[in-house]
Amino acid sequence: MKKTSLLLLAGLFQLQVQAQTPEAKMNTFITKLMGQMTIDEKIGQLNLVTPGGFTATGATVSQNVEANIKAGKVGGLFGIYDPTLVRKPQELAVKNSRLHIPLLFGLDVIHGHKTSFPIPLGISSTWDLERIEKSARIAATEATADGLNWVFSPMVDIARDPRWGRISESSGEDPYLGSLIAKAMIRGYQGTSFKETNTVLACVKHFALYGAAEAGRDYNTVDMSRIKMFEYYLPPYKAAIDAGVGSVMTSFNEIDAVPATANKWLVTDLLRNQWGFKGLVVTDYTAINEMIAHGLGDLKQVSALALKAGTDMDMVGEGFLTTLKQSLNEGKITQKEIDQACRRILEAKYKLGLFDDPYRYLDESRPAKEILTPENRAFARDLAARSHVLLKNSNQTLPLKKSGSIALIGPLADDRKNMLGTWNIAGDWKKAVTVAEGIKNVAGSDVKINYAKGANFTTDTLLIQRLNAQNGLVDVDPRSPEVMIEEAVKVARQSDVIVAVVGEAQEMSGEASSRSDIGIPENQKDLLKALKKTGKPLVLVLMSGRPLTLTWENDNADAMLEAWFGGSESGNAIADVLFGNYNPAGKLTATFPRNVGQIPIYYNHKNTGRPYEGVLLDKFKSRYLDVPNDPLFPFGYGLSYTTFSYSEVKLSQTTLKGNQTLQASVTVKNTGKYTGEEVVQLYISDPVASVTRSVKDLKGFQKISLKPGESKEVTFRITPEQLKFYTTDLKYDWEGGEFSIQIGTNSSDVQTAKVQWAK
Ligand code: BGC
Repeated sequence: MKKTSLLLLAGLFQLQVQAQTPEAKMNTFITKLMGQMTIDEKIGQLNLVTPGGFTATGATVSQNVEANIKAGKVGGLFGIYDPTLVRKPQELAVKNSRLHIPLLFGLDVIHGHKTSFPIPLGISSTWDLERIEKSARIAATEATADGLNWVFSPMVDIARDPRWGRISESSGEDPYLGSLIAKAMIRGYQGTSFKETNTVLACVKHFALYGAAEAGRDYNTVDMSRIKMFEYYLPPYKAAIDAGVGSVMTSFNEIDAVPATANKWLVTDLLRNQWGFKGLVVTDYTAINEMIAHGLGDLKQVSALALKAGTDMDMVGEGFLTTLKQSLNEGKITQKEIDQACRRILEAKYKLGLFDDPYRYLDESRPAKEILTPENRAFARDLAARSHVLLKNSNQTLPLKKSGSIALIGPLADDRKNMLGTWNIAGDWKKAVTVAEGIKNVAGSDVKINYAKGANFTTDTLLIQRLNAQNGLVDVDPRSPEVMIEEAVKVARQSDVIVAVVGEAQEMSGEASSRSDIGIPENQKDLLKALKKTGKPLVLVLMSGRPLTLTWENDNADAMLEAWFGGSESGNAIADVLFGNYNPAGKLTATFPRNVGQIPIYYNHKNTGRPYEGVLLDKFKSRYLDVPNDPLFPFGYGLSYTTFSYSEVKLSQTTLKGNQTLQASVTVKNTGKYTGEEVVQLYISDPVASVTRSVKDLKGFQKISLKPGESKEVTFRITPEQLKFYTTDLKYDWEGGEFSIQIGTNSSDVQTAKVQWAK
């Protein structure tokens, strides 16, 4: 055959293959379907509703859900789960709506579905990407077994302010670690394709900068320079997009004075055009309507702004449903804009396989086999133990002996209702393990446990009312604080050691749960002060959804374990750690300040022109009169029952040029008595650049395990990629010069070596 005809044939073949690509097939299908849709039906797809009942995080819940589904006025539903319950609305849509378009079913599956894992801030403290991915995999399996095809997770907002209640739902303050966790979660949820019915559409949120609310007050104003945004706040969202996340949720806050949901720069220019995101964008709960209060116009106006910005789906507010047609008639929006949004929602449904089988996630036999299985619970227990951070351990108070007597005291010592933590929508607290039960399970019969509650969560009755407004998780012991403390002191005197389980009630963190004082409530502190006076060793097990201010506690307790809210297996995991069945290895992913006045406080701050360098009487320096600059516990901090020593940093070379690779190594030795894990952390600092840089940034970490006496050399490979930063004109590049390579056990305690790296 002649060369030209061969080429022609190859071309034809290629065309044919192209016509058959999954994407082309999908486009043909959706174009055909949209050809049959009326404008009302298209707008109907943009409507996401919740029947309420399970959870509502705003004042509104959707009305007339059934009638609207039949009329083709609903694209998806969230807040219901269980295949039998989900089947009904899906049948309504598929059998009763004119075009039989199936619905999406979403839910906030944040740290596990019915098997509840630790709160995300706790999960991030494991620094264990494989297990983090597995937690999302299990969550996806349970969620899909329960009829869901969409999860509103991962939440990847960088949080530098522990007053903000939703720091509990985040991976903390660091963009590098946050980005890796975002990717791991998406791999866990979405798998490699939606072919398997145990994979689920993920939704990264809250795009963008939601964690930077002024004064840590939820829903508050955000105002931030572009350079800070790109360097510190945007990377985890970008990582999620790069990992192929199928949907994005816009945030409540404003960015450059335009709320995210109507921010065209954010949703179209950056997300879609610059980052290449092709999936669907959904608003947060009534975020369109809230733009009326933001001051952007009436419902018709703000709905049109949201659509024009590139937002596809309206959560609960029905602004799209009730106003877009009129805006179209008035020429304020275009048919193309509606079509585009509708197409993206239909594409999500298509990719999930819902047009092939709308009931593919509705297998009524799955829940019994796949939800809350012994394996899932075992994984939850292990993950919870791994999330714990040992903050203090004087005189090796921990681990506890499996003999003698323990005074088990505190509002969280025998509480079941607060074990799961915020945002456990489907989790059932009745199935959680209490600390008292965990200790009984693990300690064995030689340990005598003497229990006293000792204190309520708080004595502030108004606060209790507010905490109990949604789900009544705070029980109140009617006895006076004095009587309760007296009983606890008596119990403590009869025991060898005190384990006080104190901290926050679950509802003291999470959405709309910001605090201006992030200490342990005063009445619990009074309890601790009285216990301290007994002279018995005092172990604090802390539960909280945020970093706490623990200065007094650190000065007075013998040991402190931050256990966050551990989920379904919380009590067992705490006992595993207290008795040394697991040697804690968690590291903080958010700085613990000394007091609230230090906030915002984070490890990757700038140097300033007048850094304080430790000379006490040096007046004109950037510092406080009444508190040191450094935090109580820095980012990356966490102890072990064993100890580790670090050698000096060894570099493969000290001068480099261009695209070379530097190898930086340390030898870490287990110098204590227990086998233990250590997160070896790499930070890089770039002291001279065309813009001011932070004092250091996390650029790598490795989690290793060492037996007593064992040493390991840990090597990091560093390329110019890790030296890059955003310049004033938002170019992402590196500049030659000196760099300091820092490797250590936390962000403050590092070994340092210097290199010259020319461009
Ligand atoms: C929260 C979101 C959540 C949504 C749906 C909102 O109030 O901000 O994170 O996904 O409610 O429950």
